[in-house]
Amino acid sequence: MKTLLKLQAYMTGRKALLPGALALSAISTLMGMLPYIFIWLIVKELFNTGADYSQVRINTYAWWAVGMAIAGVILYFLALTLSHLAAFRVETNMRRLAMRKIIRMPLGFFDRNTSGSIRKIIDDNASITHSFLAHQLPDLAGSILMPLTALVFIFVFDWHLALACLIPIIISMVLMSFMMGGKGKKFMKNYMTSLENMNTEAVEYVRGIPVVKVFQQSVFSFKNFHNSIIQYKNMVFEYTKIWENPMSINMVIINGFVFFLVPVAILLIGYSGNYTLVLVNLFFYILITPVFAQSMMKSMYMNQALGQAKEAVNRMEKLTDVEPLPVLNNPKTITGHDICFKNVSFIYPGAKQKAIDNISFIIPKGKTVALVGASGSGKTTIARLVPRFWDADTGKVCIGGTDVKEIDQKELMNNVSFVFQNTKLFKTSLLGNIKYGNLDASNEEVERAVDLAQCREIICKLPDGLNTKIGVEGTYLSGGEQQRIALARAILKDAPIVVLDEATAFTDPENEYLIQKALGKLTKGKTVLLIAHRLTSVMDADIILVIDKSKIAEQGNHYELLNKQGIYSKMWNEYQQSIKWTIGKEIQYV
Ligand SMILES: Nc1ncnc2c1ncn2[C@@H]1O[C@H](COP(=O)(O)OP(=O)(O)OP(=O)(O)O)[C@@H](O)[C@H]1O
Ligand SMILES: [Mg+2]
Repeated sequence: MKTLLKLQAYMTGRKALLPGALALSAISTLMGMLPYIFIWLIVKELFNTGADYSQVRINTYAWWAVGMAIAGVILYFLALTLSHLAAFRVETNMRRLAMRKIIRMPLGFFDRNTSGSIRKIIDDNASITHSFLAHQLPDLAGSILMPLTALVFIFVFDWHLALACLIPIIISMVLMSFMMGGKGKKFMKNYMTSLENMNTEAVEYVRGIPVVKVFQQSVFSFKNFHNSIIQYKNMVFEYTKIWENPMSINMVIINGFVFFLVPVAILLIGYSGNYTLVLVNLFFYILITPVFAQSMMKSMYMNQALGQAKEAVNRMEKLTDVEPLPVLNNPKTITGHDICFKNVSFIYPGAKQKAIDNISFIIPKGKTVALVGASGSGKTTIARLVPRFWDADTGKVCIGGTDVKEIDQKELMNNVSFVFQNTKLFKTSLLGNIKYGNLDASNEEVERAVDLAQCREIICKLPDGLNTKIGVEGTYLSGGEQQRIALARAILKDAPIVVLDEATAFTDPENEYLIQKALGKLTKGKTVLLIAHRLTSVMDADIILVIDKSKIAEQGNHYELLNKQGIYSKMWNEYQQSIKWTIGKEIQYV
């Protein structure tokens, strides 16, 4: 019921479709049951009149039976039409609502959920819900009404025979509810999780093929995927095994209902002596018992389908249960471009330890603050709190004295440019990708940004220059090239605040030099928060913060920190060593 109400909530505008489909299918079920009464009347008539076919009443009953059956089918068809309309509406609204919620998610949400997995969860669960509503919902009313009507029918005619035909049905129900109860529900949950796991592993396997090929590790990488299939197989197999005996017993009992009815009928004839009525009733019970049993089974399967739909709705809700960024009643504008962290702590959802702990620092307008420190110390997390990938748990991140949480999202995005390591380009033209930073930019401005970001050389070698589509027909850019395009985008945006996270990591020396040059142009006169692993890139920063285990361990400019003889000076010495080592190696090769 709760699931149905949840689904009904997605039926904006056409609230009557779902109840309409249920009502029509209920009436159609009743219509479908009436022919059994007419058949009973016909049989009774045949016995009473000694099978005199000239009796007009038999014909009338027959026509009524056919009429009711046809009306039942037509109504069922109408119920299906309504349920399909409802299904399409619910599916569309479900997707729409999920997308609307996702758009309002903090940017960090997309770090944890890849676009592929988001699409999969929405696609899979919306289509499970669709097929439940379109194909199974019309049977829902029937699956409740049919056994109830059949129950009324069997007790109206002869309660002795009714009790006899109930015995196999009750045994079967007990067996079924035992199977579908606790264990069945647990299985459904495990089944969905296992299926999702198998799909994820399959995607991971395909995604990892290039790495696997390089390292010649095909056997090991296949292991996770293989394990997930085996786990799925074992689970289904084990469950099927549990069903083996109860299902066989169930089938035998259900189909052997005549063995319960006939002895009772013989006893009844013996006691009452009215063999005509007992025989007519027996005939009716032989007809109705399988219908009753079948309808009971159907309602149990319906329960299972309902369970599946419930899981689907829950999974959809779980995907978007991260708090979306609140809509501000009174959004503030940015009045200055200095950045201030005041006692900021943040813990990732579900993590045990703080990623950053009581961080405080100021970047005055137009100055550069660099973050350095060991891997995992919390640098990226600090940088990501400025454009609100996540919100600080305690403390405040302010721009121009205003808490970023109170700044209008669009205003914040217009004022902060960020370039992170895993730059993403859209599957569109290069021009489109660069102009994303400023849709109103003129051609001259784009060309200038292209030159400043050292992208001219990339564009010249592409067939259609700036109009070349990226990501199609074999046109791909290297990591360093993608970063330079992202820089052009950021230069074009010309935001007063710039956040750069490892913009030169993992690039070749030539690209690194070009990117450094582009960065210089991008950051000139701006308020900059810079993270770099190569210490030469941060030497010129106004202040360097050394982050160690989620806290600020040291701060000062390059020379002050070297004099301190602390973590930074140790890092610097190691860095110098590594450079010497590289140069040494290169000389050896020459
Ligand atoms: N999306 C996330 N969910 C949960 N924990 C995370 C997430 N991102 C980072 N962490 C954890 O937070 C801590 C700080 O990570 P962060 O990425 O800020 O480190 P970093 O200093 O940037 O490291 P690196 O130099 O390797 O980039 C780490 O312990 C990391 O495991
Ligand atoms: Mg990082």
